[in-house]
Amino acid sequence: HAEPLATGHGKVILLGEHAVVYGSHAIAAPVPLAIEARVKEAHEGVSLIIPRWGVEQRLESQAEQRRSFDRPIGMILEKLGLAERPMLIEVFPQIPRAMGLGSSAALAVAVIRALDEHFKLGLSDDELNDLAYECEKVAHGTPSGIDNTIATFGRFLLYRMGEPPVKRQLSVPAPIPLVIGMSGVESLTAKMVARVRAAWEKSPGLYEGIFEQIDSLTLQGVKAIESYDLEQLGELMNICQGLLNALQVSSWEVEELIQVARNNGALGAKLTGGGGGGSMIALCPESPERVVNAMQEAGYQAMEVTIG
Ligand code: PMV
Repeated sequence: HAEPLATGHGKVILLGEHAVVYGSHAIAAPVPLAIEARVKEAHEGVSLIIPRWGVEQRLESQAEQRRSFDRPIGMILEKLGLAERPMLIEVFPQIPRAMGLGSSAALAVAVIRALDEHFKLGLSDDELNDLAYECEKVAHGTPSGIDNTIATFGRFLLYRMGEPPVKRQLSVPAPIPLVIGMSGVESLTAKMVARVRAAWEKSPGLYEGIFEQIDSLTLQGVKAIESYDLEQLGELMNICQGLLNALQVSSWEVEELIQVARNNGALGAKLTGGGGGGSMIALCPESPERVVNAMQEAGYQAMEVTIG
């Protein structure tokens, strides 16, 4: 019989990306897009199939693994003592890859959960989150842990590195309507994080000032969200985008999407995630369809979601 599907949530960061890597706060929420996975018995070897992404491969030994999505999985199998167990890992993503929506963390969480269910490992959510964090390190160097935390717990959170993951869950009086615009350019989170790091190493004072401003507007964002002051939230998102521009992590396509959103009634618009491509979000309580249509007319993929 077929095993049930295990889930890892995709996410958007509302405020605070990049600065979160340096100890600032960030606000992130799960989106109704996930990655699902299941593990089945096999006769020999470990195979990974992701039909939607055209991936069908046999996982070789750790040393021979090169591709980004099987390297973390190989590491997990070793850590869980499952490297010698034959199995078929099937992955069903609803999240586009490398669009700043947390697909790598969601994939890791879905696969670890599927392993946990199939082999009855009894992992707690905290253990699962820690393992997914190890995967994120393999995937992009110095992650803050925000992606794996949302992928694991699927909650709307104020996140800060080094604090318990679900210390501060946000409550909203009503769902917050967003439009996600996808640039179609694969985001290079590792590269963007490395660029910010290089700039910070050269002029720490200059960049720490920016991180502090992002931290401050993220904390103001908590108040705006919990009091459902969407105008204020939109303004904070716009200012945050200005600071992300100062960090030079935006891109031509993302800027176009932001202008399209603002011209069509969005209260705020900014990139989400690592930048350098990937996705942007627009806060659209009035006319989300108009924003989606305008983005599509400009040649981009876009969708309405609600968070909270
Ligand atoms: O691009 P994504 O969805 O992986 O988001 C990365 C968020 C950063 O703050 C840029 C990095 C991190 O690890 O927090």
